Amino acid sequence: MRILSAAFVLSAKEPAHYPPALLPEVAFAGRSNVGKSSLINALLMRRGLARTSNTPGRTQEINFFSVNDRIGFVDLPGYGYAKVPEKIRRQWGPMIEAYLRDRRTLQLVVVILDVRREPSEEDLQLIDWLSFYRRRCLIVLTKIDKLNRGERAERLRRIEEALRRFPGMETLVFSAKTGEGKDPLWREITKAVADFSADGL
Ligand code: GTP
Ligand code: MG
Repeated sequence: MRILSAAFVLSAKEPAHYPPALLPEVAFAGRSNVGKSSLINALLMRRGLARTSNTPGRTQEINFFSVNDRIGFVDLPGYGYAKVPEKIRRQWGPMIEAYLRDRRTLQLVVVILDVRREPSEEDLQLIDWLSFYRRRCLIVLTKIDKLNRGERAERLRRIEEALRRFPGMETLVFSAKTGEGKDPLWREITKAVADFSADGL
């Protein structure tokens, strides 16, 4: 994909503040610090467009980006980080769910997992929940650069096992550091947004 333009649009916590629903959207979800913002920057080849950090829980609102004026990218706040204050954590579930359930232009949810870890209960719940709402979804196993070959095979086997209850679920490996997996991920994104037509909304 040639990136002609990539721009931050706005941050919002509630539907009334989202940008108008005009572009097909792809949302990026996953636990805190898994690498959602880094993945978006790698795909868009814009370092620092989506804010990244070593401090988990940094993305606290839903961030909307516009790519080539044709696709919306949505960086969701991460879940599962215990040190986020209770009050903020309680707002996150409903904030993310409202977006994922109701956004009419949402075409694909990329669920990001750390390839080195077992999927958490929250990861599995999210995937369950997305299938319940019949959202098209794709699993991306990121930070693959942190594994050597032997570890890779073993981890992929373990994760496949953990995701067995979702037969047919597509998974890709990715690294924001080396760029591995960027092309296959772009292909999936392009496929998912291809059929979009605002007319049917
Ligand atoms: P929150 O917004 O807090 O939920 O985090 P996030 O999921 O957006 O994670 P972020 O992109 O900020 O990355 C968290 C940390 O992981 C940063 O230190 C990144 O540099 C690092 N990181 C992300 N992706 C990769 C990757 O593919 N490889 C390696 N080696 N490090 C990565
Ligand atoms: Mg982030």
